[in-house]
Amino acid sequence: MKYNAPRGTHDLWGDAAEKIRVLEDICCNIFKIYNYKEIRFPTFEDADLFTRSIGETTDIVEKEMYVFNDRKGRRLALRPEGTAGVVRSYIENNLEQILGISKLFYMGSMFRYERPQAGRYREFLQIGAEYFNNPSPAADAEIILVAKEILNLIGLKDISIHINSLGCPGCRPNFRKALKDYFLNCKDLCVDCNKRIEKNPLRVLDCKIDSEKFKNAPKIEGFLCQECSTNFSQVQELLRISDCQFIIDHNLVRGLDYYTRTVFEIRSNALGAQDALAAGGRYDNLVEEIGGPFTPAVGFALGSERVIMALDKLKINLGINKNKLIFVAVSSQSLEKSGFILANKLKTLYCNANNKYTYIIEGPFGERSLKSQLRLADKLCADKVIIFGEEEFKRGCVLLKDMTNNTQSEIALGEVQADI
Ligand code: HAM
Repeated sequence: MKYNAPRGTHDLWGDAAEKIRVLEDICCNIFKIYNYKEIRFPTFEDADLFTRSIGETTDIVEKEMYVFNDRKGRRLALRPEGTAGVVRSYIENNLEQILGISKLFYMGSMFRYERPQAGRYREFLQIGAEYFNNPSPAADAEIILVAKEILNLIGLKDISIHINSLGCPGCRPNFRKALKDYFLNCKDLCVDCNKRIEKNPLRVLDCKIDSEKFKNAPKIEGFLCQECSTNFSQVQELLRISDCQFIIDHNLVRGLDYYTRTVFEIRSNALGAQDALAAGGRYDNLVEEIGGPFTPAVGFALGSERVIMALDKLKINLGINKNKLIFVAVSSQSLEKSGFILANKLKTLYCNANNKYTYIIEGPFGERSLKSQLRLADKLCADKVIIFGEEEFKRGCVLLKDMTNNTQSEIALGEVQADI
């Protein structure tokens, strides 16, 4: 074999691809009920957009971005996440003016140069939503609830929702200072932690190597200003009255720097190390930092592969439709044209504007012997096979073979549609 998929990427085909499609369709329907509109945006952007939004001293920007120069020397990066691109588009296209209310959802590939392992890839699929210009805790609650709704609806009930508040630019500096003082007294920190104590002590809390050592680190709750504290209580209250259970987790700091106030992560109890199914939070200053008007915002993204992994672990079937398959076979090559016409007629008949196809139509394969076509029909688990035989065709008939009970009957060509 000369070529393999690049490390950390994977091919999805057959049922695996179908599961992603079904998950995306379900999310699309739920987002529409919550009045989110779809947005599609480039898979690559100016690399600086990500550096500025995600943060210079985050793992994503320091180690995980796929950065390249195009032929004109522009420094671009494959998107490691969706929020930055949506915010860029929101500002550039003046979406607030056009849409009135900007609640956007997206789905697609993200790219991070991480060490691959089960549930962690270098190209992975996210489904996300961003809600602009609503500073109310109701928007935070809505985002958490829509994520929970999606996971619950597909059957993932055994999940835990972790929430925290990271405060605002008014109160966070005090917390940062307390953390910095604490870390300066910690021994044997990893190279990255030592580098980050000065510039971004919150990131130290998120270190994959050292985080276990920080059980006694200062907690943000003691540093939140009155507004942030009230806001956090209001988010909790809204979740409680919506029957949404959650865990307050003061160690949750997230790996991206744009967050203010609410952050959350939804974990699956069925998965091992990579157990975060979805995550997000509020980012009230990002739109302004990227050059737009001050616009509070909140959002989340789920990892599609991880969600499917959790479903598979729990043996939950995502409701993949197994449509009935009708196979058209011909006994000789000279009948292929007639078989082709019928197959096409049936396809046209069952294709409707809603794309809700009821049958799968396959064949004919005139180059193959009838025996080989029937073997293929069997392999495809065909429900019925329409056989064009020389003798029957002369009488304007075909054979209809029912593969489930292995019976066969002769029917008029014009009756096929009524009989299958
Ligand atoms: P994130 O936590 O970096 O947040 O990613 C969200 C989800 O994407 C994770 O919970 C996980 O399920 C999935 N994920 C992340 N990295 C990988 C990977 N290497 N392989 C497979 N799945 C992965 C964000 O991306 C934010 N943009 C979320 C957000 C939206 N915040 C506000 N709005």
